[in-house]
Amino acid sequence: RHPGWPARLGPLRVGAGVVEVRPPRLFDASAWSAVRRRDRLHLESWEPTVPGSWNDNNGPLAWPGQWSTLRGLGRRGLSLPFVILVNGQLAGQVTVGNVVRGSLCSAWIGYWVGTHVTAGGVATGAVALVVDHCFRAAGLHRLEATVRPENQASLRVLGKLGFREEGFFRRYLDVAGGWRDHLCFALTTEDIPNGLVAGLVAQGRAQLL
Ligand code: ACO
Repeated sequence: RHPGWPARLGPLRVGAGVVEVRPPRLFDASAWSAVRRRDRLHLESWEPTVPGSWNDNNGPLAWPGQWSTLRGLGRRGLSLPFVILVNGQLAGQVTVGNVVRGSLCSAWIGYWVGTHVTAGGVATGAVALVVDHCFRAAGLHRLEATVRPENQASLRVLGKLGFREEGFFRRYLDVAGGWRDHLCFALTTEDIPNGLVAGLVAQGRAQLL
């Protein structure tokens, strides 16, 4: 067992509904696939390039392989992979990856949310739940988020949460078919002694249930 895994976090009420996160399950295949296939245009410009067609990579038959990979990484303490539920329905994912312990205690965090609930505070709420969990139960010290400078919605999520801009990585990640520049943002535990969720609640952006 690795600290902080597995975990179920929330519920937290935001504008779009009640947000919870939990580990992915095999039976998420059809809900995951339905959102991902529908939202290709919304997701493809911001996600790592993967060989093969969008429909195949995001069909229900693609999920068991992805689920099993995520489950393995979670069990080995290398990742904390979550799906986001809004009002009990799968609406996105938050993944904490490349967990390195020792004197680094660091990882990256990434996320996506389906168009049926965007601009309702879901990503902000889900990322806040996961960051607080990583800095408490999971014992991490630093989380890093890299985002394309063109990704206004994601920049806004990081801005609302108080992530600090730390750098500009040229041609950093293969996204949407090319090596894309990314801005690097980060938080360490010292930045948020009371946690991100408490901050959202104090700003009236979320309500703990
Ligand atoms: N320009 C400016 N602001 C925008 C835009 C835009 N085009 N679109 C949305 N916004 C704002 C929203 O109004 C909202 O701000 P507000 O609360 O001040 O009104 C904010 O951006 C979004 O905040 P949330 O509602 O918490 O986020 P949401 O649940 O809509 O999810 C996300 C945001 C995850 C970026 C979603 O749009 C998405 O899945 N995009 C495609 C995948 C993606 O880009 N993932 C992030 C990659 S980078 C990373 O993972 C570190």
